[in-house]
Amino acid sequence: VRGSDRTDGPTGDLRREVVALLRAAGCVFAEAEWDVLSESTGSAEEVRRLAAQRASGVPLEHVVGWAEFGGLRLAVAREVFVPRRRTELLARTAASLARPGQVVLDLCCGVGAVAAVIAATVPDLDIHAVDVSEAAIRCAARNLAMAGATVAVGDLYDALPSRLAGRVSVIAANAPYVPTDALAQMPTEARLHEPRVALDGGPDGLDLHRRIAAGAPHWLCSGGRLLIEVADSQHAAAARLCGDAGLDVSAIEDGEGTVVIVGRAGLASRD
Ligand SMILES: C[S@@+](CC[C@H](N)C(=O)[O-])C[C@H]1O[C@@H](n2cnc3c(N)ncnc32)[C@H](O)[C@@H]1O
Repeated sequence: VRGSDRTDGPTGDLRREVVALLRAAGCVFAEAEWDVLSESTGSAEEVRRLAAQRASGVPLEHVVGWAEFGGLRLAVAREVFVPRRRTELLARTAASLARPGQVVLDLCCGVGAVAAVIAATVPDLDIHAVDVSEAAIRCAARNLAMAGATVAVGDLYDALPSRLAGRVSVIAANAPYVPTDALAQMPTEARLHEPRVALDGGPDGLDLHRRIAAGAPHWLCSGGRLLIEVADSQHAAAARLCGDAGLDVSAIEDGEGTVVIVGRAGLASRD
């Protein structure tokens, strides 16, 4: 059933049937979703089964079990946060700061999307990835196996070995940053199919970031960087909390409503 360009014969019939089903269910990019569904399985029956799940509101990535991020195809699973394209800025920026031989930490890693891009960009890193969700860490273990990364379940820094204190060059964190009161306005797919712990950032959305920034100086080497993704509207507050933690702050905006704040530890430059 592969090939979206084929519109004749049985494949064309199946394509029309699936696209119509997806359109009726409100999928705006029905043709593109057909491409993904048909590419993910070999039989017409299976495509119909997956399309029915998608039409019932399950996120496409959960249906097919993979998501594209930073040019990589990553394993995802039900009840796990689906990496968003906007986070590619965080991954790219973190990769641009990492050098071979350094220790890099992906905090709140989900399926390990940020760490996977960093590992694909910079060789010979000692990568660590932590998430509180066991389901997410199972995906991260698959996605980061080739990178030889160490993955662990735990609350922020708790899962890290003490020998990493003062040795981490880059900490990248896409932690939950949706203010609790705004969760109700999130798209249905996220609200119903992604865990609340992956979305809820507390009253102002920055509960996790406060703890991440406060803990960062203990783990970062001199000149090491903490990078956090937040919404554009949280820019000033997030920069302030990094400053309060003793980090020297600069910010990079991506123009898609999110911002990556870069905080640097200590005065010595390690460029
Ligand atoms: C917005 S998702 C981002 C996941 C991943 N960084 C990405 O960009 O695809 C936030 C992640 O933080 C994790 N998380 C929430 N609270 C945490 C905590 N206290 N310690 C570690 N991970 C946590 C969630 O399980 C979820 O996977």
